[in-house]
Amino acid sequence: MLLSEIEILIIYYLLLFIYGFTMCGIIGIATTLTALGANLGTVLYCCLKNLEYRGYDSVGFAVITPDGRLVVRKCRGKIDDVREKLGFDRYCGVVGIGHTRWATHGPPTDVNAHPHTDCNMGIAVVHNGIIENYLELREELIERGHRFISETDTEVIPHLVEEFKRRGLPTYDAFKKAVSILRGTFAIAMIDVDEPDKIFFARYTSPLVIGFGKGTMFVSSDIPAFLEYTNRVLVLRDLEVGYVTSSSVVVEGISQSEDLDPVPPPSRVVEFRPRIRVVEWSLEAAKKGGYPHFMLKEIHEQPYAIFSTISGLGPEIDGVVELIRRADHVFIIGAGTSYHASLTGSYLLHELAGVFSQAIIASEAQWYLSKVSDRDVVIAVSQSGETIDTLVAVRVAKRCGAKVVAVSNVIDSAIPRESDIQVYTRAGPEIGVAATKTFTTQLVVFTYLALRLGKVLGTLPEDNYRDLLSKLRKVPEVVEYVIARCEPIARKLSREVASKRSAYFLGRWLGVPISMEGALKLKEIAYIHAEAYPAGESKHGPIALVEPGFPVFFTVLGGYDEEIIGGNIEEMRARGAWTIAICPRGSRVRRLPEVVIELPRLSPYVATIPYIVPYQLIAYYTATQRGFDPDKPRNLAKTVTVM
Ligand code: AGP
Repeated sequence: MLLSEIEILIIYYLLLFIYGFTMCGIIGIATTLTALGANLGTVLYCCLKNLEYRGYDSVGFAVITPDGRLVVRKCRGKIDDVREKLGFDRYCGVVGIGHTRWATHGPPTDVNAHPHTDCNMGIAVVHNGIIENYLELREELIERGHRFISETDTEVIPHLVEEFKRRGLPTYDAFKKAVSILRGTFAIAMIDVDEPDKIFFARYTSPLVIGFGKGTMFVSSDIPAFLEYTNRVLVLRDLEVGYVTSSSVVVEGISQSEDLDPVPPPSRVVEFRPRIRVVEWSLEAAKKGGYPHFMLKEIHEQPYAIFSTISGLGPEIDGVVELIRRADHVFIIGAGTSYHASLTGSYLLHELAGVFSQAIIASEAQWYLSKVSDRDVVIAVSQSGETIDTLVAVRVAKRCGAKVVAVSNVIDSAIPRESDIQVYTRAGPEIGVAATKTFTTQLVVFTYLALRLGKVLGTLPEDNYRDLLSKLRKVPEVVEYVIARCEPIARKLSREVASKRSAYFLGRWLGVPISMEGALKLKEIAYIHAEAYPAGESKHGPIALVEPGFPVFFTVLGGYDEEIIGGNIEEMRARGAWTIAICPRGSRVRRLPEVVIELPRLSPYVATIPYIVPYQLIAYYTATQRGFDPDKPRNLAKTVTVM
């Protein structure tokens, strides 16, 4: 583990408090047959469809049928691909729960899909979050005769409730008792054939809201799920539990307890009515969490995405270190933004570990990789894990016997599936076509990999290693600060950038791939021609295009680049260029450009991550200034599956 347990917990809860937990969506509906119950399955489908942006690895639902049976339908896949197979529209009833999953632990299989049930198929549970003490609980429950069928942490919940019921508690008390001994994070909805008109719920850290409809109550991870049925909502607080029927809500606060003794935890009734709010958002706005676009939401999610990725990296990185240590050649391949992460990775491996590697654009890689051998390593970077150019190159490399490492944001997607080692970023679903949080989390992976490699190979003295690691741990905080500081600057700058036809993005050394990513962002969503190249190249050709007012952005991370880039800024200014520099606070170059955006000074190896953020914001605001939708740039798709 990269962080100590205590550090992880402190930052985790802090960030969860700020951002909420964005993986998986849950829904519960308590209704009557005359309200929505006659079409319960269809309504569950609509609600889950509205939650699809939270995850789409698997989908499932459970209903209690009018004759009192529990029916559970679930499988791997996107909701529209499995709608027919699951037969949503065939089911009616007065209570039902559903789940859409973004897998972070355990592959996205049919068995691991939610809902999960007890031994007797009377209780079904959907859950968002992570139950940290599930292994102990599972062992204890197995000893008491419970049978588990999935690899999930969630499955302990129905078995715990079943266990407490067996020992004499009624369902609600058994549920409260079960919740009180769970540790970790959770938003839970549960149904039980013994209480066929109720949905039981509980929340700790993972978000959960109740919707008050006409003759129908909803329980969900997020408001968009039920917004077309009601806009009256109650946001639950930590350690609130309760149940809904079609016309009533009970909310209680409970405390946590330690043991499996069937004594329900002390609880107090919560007067929730004053907390009910009317939400005026449209469905689209609600999905975006109040942001005008997914891209802006995703830019703002970066501190949490980076934090989750840092804390989620584990032994797989040491597996990669071992492969690289023994390799003759290392290739890093990716397309678009993932190529920029690959190039940054290549610089970092060289700088921190003295390892030479070659970054190759995925669509060009197959010819190169057709000559690799079993002594070579290929690192394939793809947020979606499905980009065909990258996948084809991976297949070529595998055929030649090379070891392949996948760096992806999507568990069990094609590229990780076909690779020898999988390293996952934990950015959560990225909906905006422009990659933002998946890029910064890819950079986290490469920074950490280079640090581990440097330590193992002895190129990085212990003190430097520790120092850089502690700087990497601070990145979520720094990114948070950079977003807050740069948003007004980006908004203002964008008014001028919006009127330009072309721009250069220049850097040196590690600043080159960050400049390339900055240029890609501007061209793909604001449709302004942008070119990036190493600043030293200007005089070999590109400077011929520069005339008064031509925008030139400089990326200065604060290492070797800072020492030598001053002359490149001067030469552009001398031709009347409009120069803008992103540099560390107090930098020696800060007086040279017309516009300077000073950011916290970090090690340049770590600065790559926060220093891209101003470019993301400038591109975003320039696109909106020019009246374009940054989430859906013309001619582009989120996942490119054609060569
Ligand atoms: C960048 O904003 C684009 N979305 C695009 O360049 C993207 O990075 C590229 O298509 C590769 O996608 P992948 O990471 O899913 O393989």
